[in-house]
Amino acid sequence: MAAKIEKIGVIGAGQMGNGIAHVAAVAGYDVLLHDAAPDRIKSALATINGNLARQVARGTVTEAARQTALARIAPAEKLEALANCDLIIESATEKEEVKRKIFAELCPKLKPEAMLATNTSSISITRLGASTDRPERFIGIHFMNPVPVMELVELVRGIATGDETFEVAKAFVKKLGKTYAVAEDFPAFMVNRILLPMINEAVYTLYEGVGSVEAIDTAMKLGARHPMGPLELADFIGLDTVLSVMQTLHEGLADSKYRPCPLLVKYVEAGWLGRKTKRGFYDYRGEKPVPTR
Ligand SMILES: NC(=O)c1ccc[n+]([C@@H]2O[C@H](COP(=O)([O-])OP(=O)(O)OC[C@H]3O[C@@H](n4cnc5c(N)ncnc54)[C@H](O)[C@@H]3O)[C@@H](O)[C@H]2O)c1
Repeated sequence: MAAKIEKIGVIGAGQMGNGIAHVAAVAGYDVLLHDAAPDRIKSALATINGNLARQVARGTVTEAARQTALARIAPAEKLEALANCDLIIESATEKEEVKRKIFAELCPKLKPEAMLATNTSSISITRLGASTDRPERFIGIHFMNPVPVMELVELVRGIATGDETFEVAKAFVKKLGKTYAVAEDFPAFMVNRILLPMINEAVYTLYEGVGSVEAIDTAMKLGARHPMGPLELADFIGLDTVLSVMQTLHEGLADSKYRPCPLLVKYVEAGWLGRKTKRGFYDYRGEKPVPTR
């Protein structure tokens, strides 16, 4: 019989972690939200509250469901608090050493049957799974941003991921009201393998002076019917995450076509990571986003 999932732990209360906690709570799971920085948990809870209120205003969630969902999410300042979770979804910073350290600390605290998932955008599920004490109960559950809005979840099995884990993950995604697409465990899976090189190419287009930030985004919105321009989208994803994914593609597939644009590296070095730091290809500190180049 497949494991019963009732209590979910989410590690990393950033833009993705808060979305995962949000949709899991709305679907009826009890959620514990952990972050290395306690103030991130606080601001994540405020974000979830605001996003749920917006869904109530739009009529997609009832007021009663909003209150029930909020009551289901609790902050977890210490990793120990996740000891009773049936499924833990890691959604911390996109750095392999960060994720490995989390798993090394977390695994000894978990019950043996607990399932572990990662929301990584690009890192090998097989390698991350092998760094844990439960590679057969380890899987990639890759959400899209913003989690409460986007329908797709990529499910990625590592070599050791067991059939039961895969089945439980499929049922979990369905219960969230989302649709899964199954990807093999190769760098950046499907969506980001296709999307991120396009964004990186947009940064090269800017770097080489072919177009300004505004011209490039207008070109792709009006010329290719993209709902957001690629640079606007890069700011939305987070430029550090964009760079990490490109580095993973570059290293993992050893093809120079994936080399990260030096201008992207420069923005990340400046700490201009996009919307989350209020500056990236656009400056978000004023009333309207203003291009920074
Ligand atoms: N941004 C996207 O569009 C997107 C989409 C899909 C998946 N992802 C993946 O989701 C994950 C999180 O990305 P994000 O955009 O939410 O990043 P983010 O920077 O908004 O949040 C990351 C959070 O992880 C926390 N953190 C760092 N080290 C930690 C540790 N040791 N223990 C606990 N928490 C720690 C940070 O304090 C931060 O709050 C990454 O793996 C990323 O690749 C991102």
